[in-house]
Amino acid sequence: MGYNRGAVIKQKREWIVKPKVFVTRVFPDAGLKLVQEACNADIWPDVMPPPYAVLKERSRGVDGLLCMITDRVDAAVMDAAGPQLKVISQMAVGVDNIDLNAARVRGIPVGHTPGVLTEATADLAFALLLAAARRLLEGVEYIRAGRWRTWEPKALLGADLNGATLGIIGLGRIGKAVARRAAGFNLSLLAYNPGLAPEEAAAVNARLVDFDILLRESDFISIHTPLTPQTRGLINSAALAKMKRTAILVNTARGPVVDSRALYDALKNGVIAAAALDVTDPEPLPPDSPLLTLPNLLVVPHIGSASVWTRDQMALMAARNLIAGVRGEPLPHAVPKP
Ligand code: DGY
Repeated sequence: MGYNRGAVIKQKREWIVKPKVFVTRVFPDAGLKLVQEACNADIWPDVMPPPYAVLKERSRGVDGLLCMITDRVDAAVMDAAGPQLKVISQMAVGVDNIDLNAARVRGIPVGHTPGVLTEATADLAFALLLAAARRLLEGVEYIRAGRWRTWEPKALLGADLNGATLGIIGLGRIGKAVARRAAGFNLSLLAYNPGLAPEEAAAVNARLVDFDILLRESDFISIHTPLTPQTRGLINSAALAKMKRTAILVNTARGPVVDSRALYDALKNGVIAAAALDVTDPEPLPPDSPLLTLPNLLVVPHIGSASVWTRDQMALMAARNLIAGVRGEPLPHAVPKP
């Protein structure tokens, strides 16, 4: 290959003038390529997220930060980055790992990826609901343990969705998408969402009720609320005690909305029948977590948005937010200011 001095100089010039960004994980090409074209990008190569100290160190002097839900982006990270930091772009809709107030007071816009993961997450919530109701995990384990000797009239009997009541905690985009799916399964719907207009719930055939009524009257409960100081530990032992003994709890929102210790006790002691979690506290669950010993708990590793199309869209949105931000343009999908 010949040496093209002009091209090398052009490349060097671009490298110098391109905005500097730190990208905390290798993410789908749909977005990564855009970032690499537009920016001088330092991309963290590991499967594991950068440790907090490394996040601070690698953010020093950057114009933009593209981060994931696994990164704690607090005031100290923003200050370590420096006053030239123009944007924080998260490849997720939830931003509870980012100190939004610290970003606001520093004038740093924060981007996220709302909308594109709604249907995939609702699909997973339904998959978990069906799996828990029909005891799929126990069925798989039953076969693997060599216990499947014949068709049994009384083995592995589960719960019917038809005619049952589903309670939705948080009737936002994803909660409504779950409500739409519920119609096909002939479920009645209750919803708890302070501040929501009853007509908005009625539009998806859900009846807004207070928290206690939802807990007491639902056969299944699916959580779709963001993690906030108000929702942290919302499902605690008192809440679990109000649920039906036959109730099934599904969480695809954020782990700390459910008190893990209280859930363990409730599942162990038959306070509720079963649970299925895409999100946990802590996350990931350590392999020796007592929760993983429970036959009536199904856990999957935070895969609500993990479909090919969805992750591509999230990558694109995150890249566009980052690029707009480093150019000083309004972010296409900014997190509303707190
Ligand atoms: C989100 O976007 O907040 C999910 O938890 C990860 O896709």
